Formats: sequence, structure tokens, C-alpha cells
Amino acid sequence: MARIAIIIGSTRPGRNGEAVANWVYERAVKHGGAEFELVDLKDYDLPHLDETSPAARGEYAQPHTQRWARKVAEFDGYVFVTPEYNHSTSGALKNAIDFLYAEWNNKAAGFVSYGSAGGTRAVEHLRLVVAELQIADVRSQVAFSLATDFRDYSVFTPAEHHEGHLTTMLDQLIAWSTALAPVRNR
Ligand SMILES: Cc1cc2nc3c(=O)[nH]c(=O)nc-3n(C[C@H](O)[C@H](O)[C@H](O)COP(=O)(O)O)c2cc1C
Repeated sequence: MARIAIIIGSTRPGRNGEAVANWVYERAVKHGGAEFELVDLKDYDLPHLDETSPAARGEYAQPHTQRWARKVAEFDGYVFVTPEYNHSTSGALKNAIDFLYAEWNNKAAGFVSYGSAGGTRAVEHLRLVVAELQIADVRSQVAFSLATDFRDYSVFTPAEHHEGHLTTMLDQLIAWSTALAPVRNR
């Protein structure tokens, strides 16, 4: 069975990302078809990239990089839960992605975003980033509006129609995460 990480892409105190990721996780477990785990960037306490060797060489010197690499390597696919910061993803998520290379390769990803325009601009940037890492990004995504899916921009009150989008995204993500297994095992 495919293993999928739901990665909380914000580390900000008071972040909305945790409620969004919990919503995704609870529904993903009910959806089934894969094993799901919440992965919180906050738990990995990554500094700004501090490796001397490029990630593609896989020569991780720092214990925090090795720990993060072990976690990311466990999965066949990822749901990136991303806020939109200045028309892109968070610096914390981009930095965490940049730390590694082979651990991401030939996996699949789906996106859940939130922001004033649903966080869609963050996801457009992330799609370019994951292409460089040979992650296959699925078409369907879930986009929450800060104006209508949150009360006072801070209490998560998602509209019901997002559930259908999540189901489609998870179906696509599980299919591609599973389909890429022979490529990963080569
Ligand atoms: C530094 C910063 C930049 C932001 N820039 C944007 C933006 O460009 N577009 C947008 O829709 N929302 C923007 N926002 C609003 C965030 O999307 C919103 O605060 C969201 O809840 C942040 O995610 P978090 O609470 O999980 O950290 C920005 C917020 C911050 C903190």
C-alpha cells in the first residue's frame, strides 16, 4: 500500500496550516487506499540550508538533514499543504524541499493551498519546483479562500464542496504514487 505524507508547509506561530492539514489528514484516513501520516516541518527544526554539498549528491553532513531525509524517504507520495506568502509558497517549505533530492525523486504530489486567492499562486510556483525534483504533480488540487473558508481569516470553516476536490486529488495521487513504484525500484 502506498505511503503518503501530508506535509504542513507553515511553521509560523498561530499558523492556519495546522487546521488545514488536520482536515486533510482526517479525510484522507477515511478515504483509505493508502497509509497517511502528518509530517510537520516544525518538528524537524531545519535551519536555512546549511549543507556544503548540493543535495543531488546525497552527501548529507548535518544530523538535521539526515533525519529529514530519513522521514521523506519513507513515502511514495506527498500532499503539500501550503500557504501563499507573497505570491509563492512559504520560505520554510521551499527550504525543506531544497535540503533533499533523491528522496523526492520518482514520487508523486498533490497540493492543498490557502490564501486570499486560494493559495493558487503558491501552488503554481510549487509545481515548477517539484518538476526539478522529478516529482509527478497531479492535476486536481484543493484551494481554500481566506475570505470564505475561514472566519476572521483565522478559524477554519471549510465549505463542503472542497471534500469532492480532495477525494479526486487523493485518487490521482494514490494512483501515481503506486504507478511510479517500478521506476523507484529500478
Ligand atoms: C509573509 C506573508 C505574506 C503573505 N502574502 C500573501 C499573498 O501574497 N497572497 C495571499 O493570498 N495571502 C498572503 N498572505 C496571507 C496568508 O496566506 C495567510 O496569512 C495564511 O493564513 C498564512 O498561512 P499560515 O497561517 O499557515 O502561516 C501572506 C501572509 C504572510 C505571513
